[in-house]
Amino acid sequence: MRQDIPLILAVDQGTTNTKAVLVDAAGKVLAKASAPLTSNYPRPGWAEQSADAIWGSVRSVIADIVAGNHGPIAGIAISNQRETLVVWDAETGEPLAPAILWQCRRTAAECQAMIDAGHNAAVNAITGLSINALFPASKLAWTMDNVVSVRDLAERGRLRVGTVDSWLLFKLTAGAVFATDHSNASRTMLFDTAKLEWSLELHNLFKVPVSALAQALPSNSRFGETATGITALPAGTPILAMMGDSHAALYGHGVRAPGLVKATYGTGSSLMTLTDRRVLSGHGLSSTIAWSDERGVAYALEGNITVSAQAIAFAATLLGLDGPRALSDLAQSVSDSGKVVFVPALAGLGAPHWTDDASGTISGMTHATTPAHIARATMEAVALQIADVFEAMQQDVGVALSGLMADGGASTNDFLMQLQADILDRPVLRGDQPEVGALGAAAMAFRALGIPAPEPSHARRFEPGTMQADARIDLLTRWYETIARVKSPSPTAT
Ligand code: G3P
Repeated sequence: MRQDIPLILAVDQGTTNTKAVLVDAAGKVLAKASAPLTSNYPRPGWAEQSADAIWGSVRSVIADIVAGNHGPIAGIAISNQRETLVVWDAETGEPLAPAILWQCRRTAAECQAMIDAGHNAAVNAITGLSINALFPASKLAWTMDNVVSVRDLAERGRLRVGTVDSWLLFKLTAGAVFATDHSNASRTMLFDTAKLEWSLELHNLFKVPVSALAQALPSNSRFGETATGITALPAGTPILAMMGDSHAALYGHGVRAPGLVKATYGTGSSLMTLTDRRVLSGHGLSSTIAWSDERGVAYALEGNITVSAQAIAFAATLLGLDGPRALSDLAQSVSDSGKVVFVPALAGLGAPHWTDDASGTISGMTHATTPAHIARATMEAVALQIADVFEAMQQDVGVALSGLMADGGASTNDFLMQLQADILDRPVLRGDQPEVGALGAAAMAFRALGIPAPEPSHARRFEPGTMQADARIDLLTRWYETIARVKSPSPTAT
């Protein structure tokens, strides 16, 4: 038992599973737990999760960590999947409908109608976001229109609406606290990120009740305390930090000042970089709140790539290979892609291009093309898409960014990381802890206790320079040309 060093239990509530780590003030991970979560897809484009199952998975990982009996836990930190909407009854604490996942596209038509009606500029000026079904605003409007109990409880002042952080906080405190943090609020499309308050203008535009929204607080607030008998933790354990997961990952990499970019290599990719003020993007990115604390608000730019490492699995299947590792090995058997370019727009193109109806394209094939060239073009595509967002960030901030901090499953691939450094012409640093989001939230919780955040370590640094300058320029030129064609395909003959 270690009585002397404060321990933080950090929960990372993600879409496919909930993880928890127990970490000390030196950043050492003493215990880990994980619980899977299922998503439901009841109609094409729809995506839901049981809000009770989300809460159940959090209780389960807390129980697993506490069972390890590592010593007293000084507080809880939460990093969470963002933009997922939960609606519940303030009195019973019961969800009124399945949580609508961030991925859900059910309000795509309504969002397009709002864009067509000319609302995007005003929404973007207030929130930093461009109207899209991803964000909870249109999801909440949908529940007001389609879930009778939601409308009914709104009229009676009993409706509670929140992102996953505020749902978990409400449950942990047995309904005593209804709050969210500024980073999660900034992703709702209802929050004025300049004034740090819910926007009445947007609540009127989306026709949603502002009274049902949680109090928005700094990310390292003392949000509340665990109630008796709710989890395996003793009553009175404080909740000391809450942050959206991408934001927590940026914090977990130790980024505290503008200049570096964080990239998560998952199914898709999320890139985030701090800005020295609130910057509205002119290059296809979101402006968002990274976090807030006693020093004020840290603003960031974010770009989300729809299909990233998933392209590697896709191409492996296409080529009849035994998974992503086999594709990566095959890619390394050739020194270049033989002028083949693969744009993995398998579900449209996300940031910074935003072309919903783009489709995946392989170009530049000749009789000399082999599966190895296509494999290499796939690995290059993952890195090139990241480079496109990196470049958009540079354009928005107006200065050169100095490097990339990598995390996520595919960041363990050395070949991909070296390609990334070469294509960016910047160093790439890879974290040595897979739980960078949870560790970021834990670091924020230590700050709330007045303890300096642990210094993160990076396992490996990839320097640029293994690719010749003319080969790099040639690769980028072919990529830009192909992206331009994918975004504006020439009309097909009839
Ligand atoms: O914006 C959605 C994102 O926060 C989801 O993260 O880790 O659940 O895929 P994850």
